[in-house]
Amino acid sequence: MQPTLHIAIRAARAAGRILLRYAHQIDRIPVQTKRYNDFVSEVDRQAEAAIIRELQAKFPHHAILAEETGAQGKGEFEWIIDPLDGTTNYLHGFPQFAVSIALRRRGRLLCGLVYDPLREELFTAARGEGAQLNNRRIRVSERRSLEGALIGTGFPFRDHRYLDPYLEMLKTLVQTTAGVRRPGAAALDLAYVACGRTDGFWELGLAAWDMAAGVLLIQEAGGQVSDLRGGDRYLTTGNIVAGNPWVYQALLKTLRPHLNEDLPA
Ligand code: IPD
Ligand code: CA
Ligand code: CA
Repeated sequence: MQPTLHIAIRAARAAGRILLRYAHQIDRIPVQTKRYNDFVSEVDRQAEAAIIRELQAKFPHHAILAEETGAQGKGEFEWIIDPLDGTTNYLHGFPQFAVSIALRRRGRLLCGLVYDPLREELFTAARGEGAQLNNRRIRVSERRSLEGALIGTGFPFRDHRYLDPYLEMLKTLVQTTAGVRRPGAAALDLAYVACGRTDGFWELGLAAWDMAAGVLLIQEAGGQVSDLRGGDRYLTTGNIVAGNPWVYQALLKTLRPHLNEDLPA
């Protein structure tokens, strides 16, 4: 295992302990609203601080891009961190949230993890070395079409500009698959594609820290990821389509008629 991944796991476990410590006293957690429907709690902040502390102790020259503290430092290596993916779930006691950490070098993802402390599930990937769940190799599913497929998604609940095309996409997929799920933590949604629990996923308006680790998990598990038009701009546009190779292609084809010039790739 890459030493960087090893340290990232330590950092994620430290954050996970903080998430679990406060999970039973959510009514007492101070919460602020960053923008419409976007909340940050004391727990997000503490978990992020713990991750950054661990990473910076070992890699003081690496840059950081973290959801709550933003970008720090410059350098060819950059850690992309979501200390608590699924904050709304967490603050409601809805048991679906995770820590997401990825390392990028000059734009190329090197390693990443998604850690679900409630279920003790640690998803890890290193470029060229495959993806694992609790140290066991994982692969995307083998389903060949949308028929019978289970698809994950997230609603555009903050920015309603794209709600109409999104709802059209959802309508088509509800009609052509076995089911669509909206669990509420994008990093885990992507990890679930990587281990075959779902066959595909799409969402509009995500941030790089929601996706970076999950993207590498899917690629290393044999799946495919792109923006809405099949390109590689997803970490910038926030719009992502992913799946096993067949379901990914079918998703792209299904979403295409609902794209318009106003919708970034
Ligand atoms: C959110 C979750 C959610 C997705 C949102 C994200 P946060 O992350 O991943 O599933 O639909 O777009 O912002 O804010 O809980 O870290
Ligand atoms: Ca997130
Ligand atoms: Ca978050």
